[in-house]
Amino acid sequence: MSDLSVELTAPNGVKYTQPTGLWINNEWVKSKSGEKITSINPTDEKEIVSVYAAGPEDVDLAVAAARKAFKDPAWRDMATTGRGELMYRFATLIEQHKETLATIETWDNGKPYSVALNEDLAEVVSTLKYYAGFADKVHGQVIDTTPAKLAYTIREPLGVCGQIIPWNYPLLMAAWKLGPALCTGNTIVLKAAEQTPLSILYLANLIKEVGFPPGVINILNGEGRKAGAALASHLGVDKIAFTGSTTTGREIMKMAAINLKNITLETGGKSPLLIFDDCDLDQAVKWAHIGIMYNQGQVCSATSRILVQEGVYEKFVSAFKEYVSTTSKVGDPFADDTFQGPQVTKAQYERVLSYIESGKHEGATLVSGGEAHKDVGGKGFFIAPTIFSDVKDTMKIFREEVFGPFVVVSSFKTEEEAISRANDTTYGLGSAVFTQNITKAHRVARNIEAGMVWINSSNDSDMRIPFGGVKMSGIGRELGEAGLEAYTNKKAVHVNLGTVL
Ligand code: NAI
Ligand code: MG
Repeated sequence: MSDLSVELTAPNGVKYTQPTGLWINNEWVKSKSGEKITSINPTDEKEIVSVYAAGPEDVDLAVAAARKAFKDPAWRDMATTGRGELMYRFATLIEQHKETLATIETWDNGKPYSVALNEDLAEVVSTLKYYAGFADKVHGQVIDTTPAKLAYTIREPLGVCGQIIPWNYPLLMAAWKLGPALCTGNTIVLKAAEQTPLSILYLANLIKEVGFPPGVINILNGEGRKAGAALASHLGVDKIAFTGSTTTGREIMKMAAINLKNITLETGGKSPLLIFDDCDLDQAVKWAHIGIMYNQGQVCSATSRILVQEGVYEKFVSAFKEYVSTTSKVGDPFADDTFQGPQVTKAQYERVLSYIESGKHEGATLVSGGEAHKDVGGKGFFIAPTIFSDVKDTMKIFREEVFGPFVVVSSFKTEEEAISRANDTTYGLGSAVFTQNITKAHRVARNIEAGMVWINSSNDSDMRIPFGGVKMSGIGRELGEAGLEAYTNKKAVHVNLGTVL
């Protein structure tokens, strides 16, 4: 076992056993090729540990295990209430290990420990409990036609589901996908992001202890182009659920076409936040800050384009600058007063810096930030929270997703102009509107092209409410009852009660 796990001590002193294998059929195994990926601590740029990376052969094994489990009466014929109890136990066990899981998340991803523990882990647990509660409440319908026919529907699981997870919320994105897939009776091959491979392996160790039959949940690390692509194009996989970039989402859609897989895609965004003259400006400032600076700005639905009506524009920009400078404390993610840790990887850090250069070059006004933050021991992928104002719609920084603590601000005159500029994007994930006028608020909510609208808040998502986008921000919905649609078929049964030929 020793080469499939290692004893580690995290920067906050937490000691734990880190699994390093692939979790297939409730066992730890090495990758066939012996290939590994190395996880880096974004705070000090040091290596944490290397873990096995799946290739196509390992994906084959995991898919075969999931296929066998899908047909296994131990899972297929389990009473739905029992399935719910199993999931609830899973959530409870995760809760018992939450400090270790949050520690790993912070070490590997860079997000503040307080956020990993009190928000990510809390939401992982509540999402799994929420979907545990659905396990015995998914049912079909009887459909009336004529007295000569009884017709009803059965909601069936789809089969083997491939789930491809991003690095911005490694455990939470896994929970969003595991919850609805498990409560509806599917089996799973989940591939974590290569940038953050560690926390999901610790979670995998709990699966057997909970009592899930072998093969129901298989967990792999591996590179997107190898393991991810093998999963998305696998003929033995019935569904693929993906969260990540729009570019990769398109690739996955193409690969999934090989056997017409059912797909759910949660991709990128450039979500607008509209501030009208008649809003509560104090609240607008605070929510605008959360909406873009939270989680180092690495949030798909981050409200990264702020449009402010001209009457309050100057006032907003100066209040926002002041609020960001006092609230967005950048530093060691294990320190209690840190709001913003490092970006997840060097690649993401460089990507954000390149957009900063682009903003300066295109002539936007730099309000604050605009550089790397080098005060944390001179190391790490830290970026000073960056605000550009007077941004034009044609500028790259107004149009492209940056995925960092980076926001653009621009002014507008009329509601009509605000809506047309808000909608002038290929994306359509989140959006927010600040006004005290309820009629205007609901009218704007209807006219915005987005999967989600926040009125007088931003990004306070909730597992009971559908999450997802329109346009190039994705296909399908996660969370809420809507999330079950993504993991079930409706089989129609026709019963002849008297039509004689
Ligand atoms: P990515 O979309 O390439 O990676 C996300 C997941 O997809 C990872 O598990 C990765 O291994 C997998 N993947 C990558 N290429 C694949 C392929 N060809 N086939 C199958 N799976 C594949 O995102 P990346 O490169 O890490 O980040 C680039 C940008 O994507 C970010 O700057 C950000 O704009 C966006 N992004 C958006 C996220 C969201 O929550 N919507 C999350 C992560 C990134
Ligand atoms: Mg890392």
